[in-house]
Order: sequence, then structure tokens, then C-alpha cells
Amino acid sequence: MSAASNALSSIDSAQQQAFEILPFSGAVGAEIIGLDLTRAVSAEDFTRIHRAHLDHHVLVFRDQRITPEQQIAFSRRFGVLQIHVLKQFLLRGHPEILIVSNIIENGQNIGLGDAGKFWHSDLSYKELPSLGSMLHAQELPREGGDTLFADMHKAWDGLPEALRKAVEGRSAAHSYTARYSESKFAGNWRPTLTAEQLAQVQEVIHPVVRTHPENGRKALFVSEGFTTRIVGLPEDESRQLLAELYAHSVLEQNIYRHQWQPHDLVFWDNRSLIHLASGCPAHLRRKLYRTTIQGDAPF
Ligand code: SIN
Repeated sequence: MSAASNALSSIDSAQQQAFEILPFSGAVGAEIIGLDLTRAVSAEDFTRIHRAHLDHHVLVFRDQRITPEQQIAFSRRFGVLQIHVLKQFLLRGHPEILIVSNIIENGQNIGLGDAGKFWHSDLSYKELPSLGSMLHAQELPREGGDTLFADMHKAWDGLPEALRKAVEGRSAAHSYTARYSESKFAGNWRPTLTAEQLAQVQEVIHPVVRTHPENGRKALFVSEGFTTRIVGLPEDESRQLLAELYAHSVLEQNIYRHQWQPHDLVFWDNRSLIHLASGCPAHLRRKLYRTTIQGDAPF
């Protein structure tokens, strides 16, 4: 029996689990309590999780003692996995996992220390940006290291009329290298990209306002991390407009701040949210494993 048909038969025979979906009191997000992702997730449970992901945009699965293989298998239920351009930070034997870490071993960073130092939507610099990402806590600092999520549907819904008019029908350029070498967190560095890596991250153009392909809602789709300009506007006008959109995207009332607990698995929707890593003191170890699920071309 092939690995794929093995996986299907374990889903068919999986028992439903008793778990709760508890929405957070703030803007966005929900906590999943009582689900064990070391067990196969039944089709019925998967449907509940999928619905909750579309409704709440970020799900926090508490206390998941999963292996990298289990994280990959669960991520694959949502789509094809994307392999990060920084091959040096992929988990050995599991290229679907990007190591997000500030840890230095034998003089080398073991992972991408500042994966989220500016607000961004994962892989918005690709023709097919990410549907969603899963981040599984491996080692957490005793201080700092939070991840913030901002709701881009709410950003669009609450956008003042003048800004709506200014962006409707417009496109923006996204580039992985936009802020690549800017270092905001102490102790972090980024490797020089090879010609082959640069060829994989050519600038792309996406609509400034996208429609979520599954929930049908509109969302702003620009971020300070990867958006470089609004197409067709003079540079200063584009810079000014983007600054206003960025400021409006991260209003306090539209943000969920995740304070990590051991073994948390956090799964967010990159079509609905942007996110930011708040950073932690360089001497404290932080390590998480990220899988990134491919989405559709934004429209
Ligand atoms: C990321 O942007 O994928 C990483 C977020 C984090 O390190 O908290």
C-alpha cells in the first residue's frame, strides 16, 4: 500500500474526538482544547477545524506533542506544502519544515531568527502565496517571543472611504528581498542569497484588495514586510498611501497577541491576516517549526 493510500485509510478509520473550539474574547482567533493531533483526525473533525479556521483565522491547538512527520501530515490535509527559499534553514530530512529560531550552534544560526520581524503575510512574494502556516513550539524563551496577528478583513471593512477609493482596482508589487538585509533583532543575520535563490523570488504583482477564495470576504493584501510599491503611482504617492494602509492594518482592536505556551501549534490564515514576531532577548533560546501551505493566486 502506498503512503498516500495508507494516510487515506487511517483517516477513514479515525475516531471522532471530543474537542472544544473556544473563540478568544478579542478581535480574532480561537483555542482548540482536547484535540490530540498525534492521532489521525477524522473527516468530521477535519471539517470542524477547517470551518473554525475560516471563521476565526487563527487557531491555537494547545499541548500538541507531535513529531515533524505528524505536523507535515496534518498540514498536508489543507493543501500542498511550500518549501522555503532559505534551504539552509530547512529541517534535515524534512524540507517541508522551516526552522524559525534565534539559536546559534557551532557559530551557525540553526534557523531563520527573524522570520517575522516586519508585519507580513507568508510568501506574499510568490505567484501563489500561502493559504496558511502552522508554527509548532519547540523551545520558548522565558521572556518575549510573542507573535501578533492582525485581521485584514477588518482592516478593509473599516477603511475610510477616501482610502478605499484610492486603492480599489489597484495592484501592488511584493518582493522577498524588499527588507531582506534590515536587521531589527539583535544577534540575527541573514545569509546572502545565491543567484539560484534570487531567481526563485522575483517580484510579483497582486491586487491590493483580495477576495478570500473560501469565505468570500475582502481583505487588504499589503504589508510592510514584502510590499514595495503600488503599481502605476508616483513613488512618493505610493509610499504615502502604503504608509496609511499599514497604519490602518494594525489598529489595536484588530490584533490578537499570541503568548506561546509549551507545545502550542498555531495555524493561521495568510489570506485573512498579517503577522509579526515581536522578538525576544538574543540570549534566550527560541525555536519553532513552520509548515507553509500553498494557496491560490489572489484575485
Ligand atoms: C513567521 O513569520 O512565520 C514567524 C513568526 C514568529 O517567529 O513568531
